[in-house]
Amino acid sequence: MKNRFSTKITTFVIVILLFVIITMVYASYLISENFYKENLRNDVEHRLRSHAIAIEHQFDLPTINHVFLMEQKEDVHLGLFDQNLQLILQSDSLDDEWVDTYREWIKDQLAVEHPFPIIDDVHTGIGFHIPHIWGVHPIVTQGEIQGYLFMDQDTEKFEATKAKLIQLFGIMGIITFIIGFFLLMYLTNKMSRPLREMGRATTEIANGNFENIPKESGSDEVGQLARDIKSMAHQLKEYRDSRQQFISHISHDLRTPITYIKGYSAILKDSADLKEEERIRTVEVIYNEATRMEHLVQDLFQLSKLEEGRIGIQKEKFQALPWLSQLIESRTMQLEKKNVTLKLRSNQEDIVLFADEFHLSKAVVNLVENSIRYCQSGDEIEVAVFKEGKQVCINITDTGIGIPEADIPHIWDRFYRVDKARTSHSGGSGLGLAIVKQIIELHNGTVTVQSQVGVGTTFSLCLPDST
Ligand SMILES: Nc1ncnc2c1ncn2[C@@H]1O[C@H](COP(=O)(O)OP(=O)(O)OP(=O)(O)O)[C@@H](O)[C@H]1O
Ligand SMILES: [Mg+2]
Repeated sequence: MKNRFSTKITTFVIVILLFVIITMVYASYLISENFYKENLRNDVEHRLRSHAIAIEHQFDLPTINHVFLMEQKEDVHLGLFDQNLQLILQSDSLDDEWVDTYREWIKDQLAVEHPFPIIDDVHTGIGFHIPHIWGVHPIVTQGEIQGYLFMDQDTEKFEATKAKLIQLFGIMGIITFIIGFFLLMYLTNKMSRPLREMGRATTEIANGNFENIPKESGSDEVGQLARDIKSMAHQLKEYRDSRQQFISHISHDLRTPITYIKGYSAILKDSADLKEEERIRTVEVIYNEATRMEHLVQDLFQLSKLEEGRIGIQKEKFQALPWLSQLIESRTMQLEKKNVTLKLRSNQEDIVLFADEFHLSKAVVNLVENSIRYCQSGDEIEVAVFKEGKQVCINITDTGIGIPEADIPHIWDRFYRVDKARTSHSGGSGLGLAIVKQIIELHNGTVTVQSQVGVGTTFSLCLPDST
């Protein structure tokens, strides 16, 4: 997986880590090296000065010999030059080959005026395999220069320390890098694991499998993403289920009238000696079933337009009471057929509605038709219109069969019917209330229901009062 997120981060951080480690190791090495070098220079300077002072204090052979004895070391070459820069005394380690070079150097230093002792780094260019530190200090007694004490200190010990330092910092760098590398691998892997899981989950969701959804982990952005994916999967599942349900309901609700129409038209076609009465009854069934289909298709079409927001509401002011009486009158035949009485009631004569008359009529008719449909002979329906605060409300109350409490939250869903069998010839498709809800919401109103099985039902439509 060359392009994995964790690989990219690891590579990026490792490059930065390497850069930081190398810079830090190099900086620490430089600082330590300078510190050691400075120390060594100070040491040479200090020794040279104290020896010079000792000799100046007691300018005789025993003192000088004593000083030379003290500096009897392999890495120190000590020489005493007179005022004419002729070598008077030298330590055992001082090589004769170098005397002229030393003299030239002292001459050069004396030519320029600066405080004593003079200390200088002499590098390999002059012929040493490691850097040396040279220093010179005049010997002055009674105001007169008696000679010059010269010291050549090689830096072998310092070089050995330097090699050790390089080794130490190198090892430190490698250890830091290894620890950093594994820590980084662990962290990036831990960080990218939920992302990989989510990637797998979204592929599964795309393939229609909504069960294997990643667990919500943590409250950070990754956790939020997991929660979003979960909610998206949930919505997609609902959408898929409702679409499947939708298709199965439509096909069921169309199949029933089609079966009737087909069966009854076959009777008409095949039975030539059908009595007039029977013929009329058969044609009536066909007509009623075709009307049922027409209503279903109309409702579906209207609901889909409402849900997609393709219906524009054209509001106008109109008197509530005359409008409602007219609506009720159009249902007289249905009411009489079912032996159900309907009363219109209002506490105020001139209630004005500000709404889309056509669509609001559709909503009220749906509710009145429900009441008629779910009432039995002798039941009563009351339509009441009244003002309540800043709202105008229309209540449709019936003494019908009522709705079980468990079904109440679902009656607004498309195709939802309390009678799940969907076989009752008197029942509708379950689209009516979904349409009512959409229409009332488009009017910025509310629709609520109160019902009790065996007692009755009240639907309440409330719209903002425009007056
Ligand atoms: N007044 C009522 N009394 C008792 N039950 C009701 C009443 N109104 C609605 N219901 C229940 O709510 C369900 C949904 O109502 P809705 O109007 O959406 O569908 P429908 O009347 O069955 O069919 P459609 O209105 O599409 O012809 C109904 O099937 C019925 O069970
Ligand atoms: Mg209905």
